[in-house]
Amino acid sequence: MNRTLHFSLLVLCIGALVIGAAYYYRIHSKVLGPVREYVLPPLPYSFNALEPYIDEKTMRIHYTKHHQGYVNKLNAALKDYPEVSKKPLKYLLTHVAEIPKAIRTAVLNNGGGYINHAFFWEVMTPYSTQAPIGETKKLIEEQFGSFEQFKIAFNKAALSVFGSGWAWLVLDKNDVRIVTTANQDCPLTDGLVPLLVLDVWEHAYYLHYQNRRAEYSTAWWHVVNWEQVEKNYQQARGERNGT
Ligand SMILES: [Fe+2]
Repeated sequence: MNRTLHFSLLVLCIGALVIGAAYYYRIHSKVLGPVREYVLPPLPYSFNALEPYIDEKTMRIHYTKHHQGYVNKLNAALKDYPEVSKKPLKYLLTHVAEIPKAIRTAVLNNGGGYINHAFFWEVMTPYSTQAPIGETKKLIEEQFGSFEQFKIAFNKAALSVFGSGWAWLVLDKNDVRIVTTANQDCPLTDGLVPLLVLDVWEHAYYLHYQNRRAEYSTAWWHVVNWEQVEKNYQQARGERNGT
């Protein structure tokens, strides 16, 4: 085979590969659609709004670096899986077996990081009512005896998290209870509905409180958004009743 023929065959093969790839991409995109890309959800208040309980610098870094990091890594994990990316994140976290094994850990870690932080921002406000309201008030008092007793139990749970994690108030069937999760695990995966959460990763408090997690979790009660907690409860009840 002479060199010219050799070269022509090579060009033909490369051309066929390029056309094939383009065709596959076209069909693939047409059938499966584009990959869904997550973006950082808007922070419902300014970075300094929760001062002095949560300082501006911590909020800024927590939101723009840590939360953004989970968003970026979640998108990176999903970029070759348009069919998976189209399913809502809440669905994926509650149907873990449907996440391909190759990206399961990445989606659980970074999807958890995405959703947990989005939820955390929402359950805080500079205009806290300082105490539960509505149905959640009733449920908390029934389950824990009083709001004060609940706070003691919740803070104890927050302190019990070894390393990085979260303390939650969740709806478990018809009862509220306190649970903790490690790393970026989300209670949705265990069939529990989050109502309230406290981030106890060191990045959430170290700049201001250093190693004093107890001080941080005690101060945090000043900024809890009980109206949002009640909304979370009403929404969970509505979903359960199919309304
Ligand atoms: Fe965090």
